[in-house]
Amino acid sequence: MRGLLITLEGIDGSGKSSVSRLLARDLIKAMPGRRFVFTAEPTNGEAGTILRAHLSQATIWPEEVSKAKRMEELLLFMADHADHLSKVIIPSIQEGSVVISDRYADSTAAYQGVTLRGIVTDPVEWIQNISRPWNVLPDLTIVFAIDPGMALRRIESRASAERTSAEKFERAEFLREVDRNFSRIAKMEPERFVLIDASRRIDDVAKEALSLIIAAIENSP
Ligand code: TYD
Repeated sequence: MRGLLITLEGIDGSGKSSVSRLLARDLIKAMPGRRFVFTAEPTNGEAGTILRAHLSQATIWPEEVSKAKRMEELLLFMADHADHLSKVIIPSIQEGSVVISDRYADSTAAYQGVTLRGIVTDPVEWIQNISRPWNVLPDLTIVFAIDPGMALRRIESRASAERTSAEKFERAEFLREVDRNFSRIAKMEPERFVLIDASRRIDDVAKEALSLIIAAIENSP
């Protein structure tokens, strides 16, 4: 059986991670004859562990070190992706599994495509050019499309820490730019990407994602 790689992408608050959990349950039931590997980036590997510690601190770096720290973050995401490819993605595809990854290289292009602005020109394209020679292209990428304002309200209702209105504005602006990058990236490869409306109830979003994935598996050569 031919292995397959399906990736799930979207901004924070799109509900993507909750849908991934439902998919893990439903796919195994729907296709008992197939082997599935459910995975995510950042991973729990070495670079991924450093990254998660980084991200949980939400540090605002002083201007003099900011460029270096943002570049460090990009390279950690890329190192984590390379590690994920060699340890999980490639071996699983080779053994014929269907790999479903909650975030993948497109997150790096979309998110670090924002954080690297002011360091390189057109960071989205720059990041894609660095990855292209060694990345494994997904067979299907589902983007959980949602209005960034709505995604932010979902995150805020979960967050326990109070944020100042300046922080909220910054977060909203950041998500809007990541969202724009995802739209741009999806338009570059329309045959690989499918956008689904993630503003609906989570069960409905999961149902649509499930049928897209089943169709991709059934139609794969
Ligand atoms: P994730 O673990 O998906 O978030 P959550 O904790 O909501 O499940 O990802 C953590 C954050 O890392 C998220 O804000 C997206 C960001 N990210 C990048 O900036 N670049 C990347 O390459 C990846 C994979 C994630």
